[in-house]
Amino acid sequence: MKNKCSLKVNGKNITVEVSDTTTLLEVLRDHLGLTGTKEGCGKGECGACTVLLNGKAVNSCIVFAHQVEGQEVITIEGLNEDPKSKHIQEAFIDEGAVQCGFCTPGMVVSSKALLIKKKKPSKEDIREGLSGNLCRCTGYTKIINAVEEAARRIEDEDV
Ligand code: FES
Ligand code: FES
Repeated sequence: MKNKCSLKVNGKNITVEVSDTTTLLEVLRDHLGLTGTKEGCGKGECGACTVLLNGKAVNSCIVFAHQVEGQEVITIEGLNEDPKSKHIQEAFIDEGAVQCGFCTPGMVVSSKALLIKKKKPSKEDIREGLSGNLCRCTGYTKIINAVEEAARRIEDEDV
C-alpha cells in the first residue's frame, strides 16, 4: 500500500509517496537524490547509511520511512550548510582520515552526533561513538585523531 510521508530533510519540508517497506535510506537516495548517504550492508551493520534523526545518529537502511513521519533528518549534504560541521569535514581531510567516499559520510555524521552530545570527547568516547561505522581499509587512528581535531577547532571558534 502507498502512503504519503512528510519529513523535514536538511531544513526543507518534503512529502514523498512510500510503501510500508520503503526505508528512510531509499527516500533519501532514490526519491530526493541525496546520494551522499551510502548503502553498504543494508542490514544496520556498517554505518555507511548513517544520518541524524532529531540530532541522533541512526542507520537509515533499517528505519522505515513511515516510522519517521514528521521528524527531522539531516544528511551529509545538510552538514555542508553548518559551519561547525565544516570543521569535522576539514579535520578529516587534514588528518588524512578520508580514504574512500563510502564509509566517510557515515563517519562524519556519527562524529557530528557525538560532538552534539560531548564537546570534548576522549579517545574512548570517539571509539564508542564510531563503533557502528566500519572501515575495511584503514586503521581507525587517523579517524579518531580527526574527531579530536574537529572538537578542538569547534571549541576554538566558540571561544
Ligand atoms: S547500509 Fe545501513 S548500516 Fe550498512
Ligand atoms: S576508508 Fe572507506 S571503507 Fe575504509
